[in-house]
Amino acid sequence: IPKDAEKMIEAHELLKKFYHHLLVNTKEGQEALDYLLNRGFTRETIDTFEIGYALDSWDFISKFLVKRGFSADLMEEAGLLVKKNNSDDYFDRFRNRIMFPITDHHGMTIAFSGRVLGDEKPKYLNSPETKIFNKSKILYNFHRARVHIRKNQQAVLFEGFADVISSSRSGVENAIATMGTSLTEEQAKILRRNVSEIVICYDSDSAGIEATNRAAKILQSVGCHINVAMIQDGLDPDDYIKKYGSEKFKNDVIGASVPLMTFKMSYYRRGKNLQNEGERFQYIENILGEVSQLKSAVEKEIYLKQLSKEFDLSMDVLKEQLNQKKPKQE
Ligand code: UTP
Ligand code: MN
Ligand code: MN
Ligand code: MN
Ligand code: MN
Repeated sequence: IPKDAEKMIEAHELLKKFYHHLLVNTKEGQEALDYLLNRGFTRETIDTFEIGYALDSWDFISKFLVKRGFSADLMEEAGLLVKKNNSDDYFDRFRNRIMFPITDHHGMTIAFSGRVLGDEKPKYLNSPETKIFNKSKILYNFHRARVHIRKNQQAVLFEGFADVISSSRSGVENAIATMGTSLTEEQAKILRRNVSEIVICYDSDSAGIEATNRAAKILQSVGCHINVAMIQDGLDPDDYIKKYGSEKFKNDVIGASVPLMTFKMSYYRRGKNLQNEGERFQYIENILGEVSQLKSAVEKEIYLKQLSKEFDLSMDVLKEQLNQKKPKQE
């Protein structure tokens, strides 16, 4: 590891501890701590996930780092400080935010995401891409979840930090998330090296549903088998757990996850009246399009049979129609 990168990681490790101390032991951190406790975070999860608080100050961290011998220039490169326009002055990137450390897959802190306590924008401020933080290769909580992923032969993929943390507290500890970006092929490959069964448990709003389709496609392309855990009423997993509790989350959400095709069926059905011939035809076309992407001949047969039964169509007709859909060249 180059010396610069080592220093950057050292600064992140130091700040992670310092932010955590500010949150749990100081008067300045009290409001942030109350916010978290009100949201249902426990002291135990705050410790486990090493959550912290960045003071409401423009230069506290700048001074803190420089005093400890870190060069301001390097700390700017690390994403912790920001350079003021046309000057050699720096200010703290993260101010008055709840700090979520982001670690690499060995557990070393390489970035932060900071949440506001109120409704200001952006809700989460993330470290920029740096020499030590490649967003497209990092999965939140992977280093803690890996042992559970291996043990359960399954990983649960969430949208947000809070979802991962609440899920873990509920006993679903094979929990990981991307950081506000779509799942990348690199992240999918990292997962695939550890496990083949993935449960996608994204927010149940329309953005989450679209993101589920996108993530599923990428995960499928690297050979993962996908189930989707759906939450019904527009909530996200963290809200759901807060409202209904851990047991219901485990049993009625994660435990009731459905194969990707079942999710797709209800996705394409949404807002359609299948009594209407045109809409029914459209639906069958949609499903055939999905079936044509499947690699397994057995799976193809299963879903064709299902269509055949539901719409009283012969397998021959469905197969003929399917054959007209050439799968995309890879
Ligand atoms: P959400 O908007 O669903 O936030 O974004 P959330 O996780 O439910 O946040 P809480 O519960 O209000 O605290 C999902 C994820 O997208 C990223 C974060 O990683 C967040 O967890 N995100 C969101 C950002 O990076 N920046 C933002 O401004 C918002
Ligand atoms: Mn602690
Ligand atoms: Mn969301
Ligand atoms: Mn959410
Ligand atoms: Mn949320």
